[in-house]
Amino acid sequence: MNLSATIRAEKKLLLPTYDRQRVLFTRGRGVYLWDSTGKRYLDFLSGIGVNALGHAHPAIQKVLKRQAGKLIHTSNLFYHEYQAELAKRLTKSSGLDRAFFCNSGTEAWEGALKLARAFARANNSNGHKAKWRLLALENSFHGRTFGALATTGQAKYRNPFVPLLPGVNFVAFNDLSDLKRQFDGSVCAVCLETIQGEGGINPIGPEFLKLARELTQKSGALLLIDEIQSGLGRTGKYFAYQHYGIKPDIVTIAKPLAAGLPLGALLTTDRVASGMHPGMHGTTFGGGPLTCAVAIEFLRQLDGLLGHVAKLGKYFLSELQELQSKFASIQSVRGMGLMLAIELDSAEIAKAVVAQLLGQGILINRTHDTVLRFLPPYIIEKKHVDEVIRALDRALKSTTTHVGPDALVRAGDLRSPNAARSAAGRVRAPAPKRASLNSDSKGATT
Ligand SMILES: Cc1ncc(COP(=O)(O)O)c(C=O)c1O
Repeated sequence: MNLSATIRAEKKLLLPTYDRQRVLFTRGRGVYLWDSTGKRYLDFLSGIGVNALGHAHPAIQKVLKRQAGKLIHTSNLFYHEYQAELAKRLTKSSGLDRAFFCNSGTEAWEGALKLARAFARANNSNGHKAKWRLLALENSFHGRTFGALATTGQAKYRNPFVPLLPGVNFVAFNDLSDLKRQFDGSVCAVCLETIQGEGGINPIGPEFLKLARELTQKSGALLLIDEIQSGLGRTGKYFAYQHYGIKPDIVTIAKPLAAGLPLGALLTTDRVASGMHPGMHGTTFGGGPLTCAVAIEFLRQLDGLLGHVAKLGKYFLSELQELQSKFASIQSVRGMGLMLAIELDSAEIAKAVVAQLLGQGILINRTHDTVLRFLPPYIIEKKHVDEVIRALDRALKSTTTHVGPDALVRAGDLRSPNAARSAAGRVRAPAPKRASLNSDSKGATT
């Protein structure tokens, strides 16, 4: 089926949950994808942080072929060779003790929430009501199932599905006094992403994270960290919380874990794991032999890539900062490792830049309306960063005010070039009218 036929068929046959780009991908290799017309794309999104080793990685293909011919599924009623080995690697790199495997990010987060409540009940020795409240952060994103949705701090995702899980309150992002104000003995867990991903690549402040750790430790509540997007090497360390020198009680991971196959996990301590007993939680598919064998290979490859991610991340960040000094439309540059973003001053410009790059064969995405998000595969090289920077430079020149000697007017701006030049300085160009959040976030990505 070609692109038009596929669009027609999907329109008729699928639930209308996605607002897809008009591209039909047929194959991938390394950092590139090809569409049905043979056009090549440089992939700086990696399937929203999943294809960390790029496409068709030879070592992953080898394990996939070998294991697919041996054993794909057994159910969790029996043992297979790989769950313990995978758990061993993950607990070693996280500093935690135990793992539970599932199929996706949202399911890992559901497990973490259930475990937090179960632990609170199991440790309710004072005869009062067990701790039950969950403090999550405004602007967060934890997934689409009901518990994950209930702890997602963005009303646009929650509102269509209320009522949700009771007992959740939202703390303003990085606001220490709000956390202190809302925290008390009824809180069973503080929940956060080390770097908010869908919320626009916002790293948690070190002081905020330290306070969350101290408050939870003191009261016997748990610290739940969602590293579904920021974990497994994305920031140049195994886990982003390792940049902060703290350890959570539960951490969730998914995206790149099985190099494109669906696999999520939660990792926790022996102490917290004691809140669970056989029958309390489980999954049919989660942690099968095929996904676990591939995940072990992914982690083997990752060991040799962390330094490269850190180095390329620093280079990419400095190039983006350089771009910021040229364009007044860039409000900020954020992120760590290869989880980076630039925030623009208008949703329209962000949309136009993504479209222009797509036209030029470069894949990035827009989140939170105005934020351009970069989640390239860990195997990118300097030349790929340079290509993206050049493309961004061209796209921003054609859509926004360029702060430099050759300042350009915003496309469509009717002022004279002189007026544009004098406006250039660091003065922000007049932003076009912003689209409403909803009209623009129809195809919001995670
Ligand atoms: C931080 C975070 N948590 C949870 C999820 C949900 O993961 P999934 O889409 O695999 O259910 C995502 C997805 O983007 C995420 O970025």
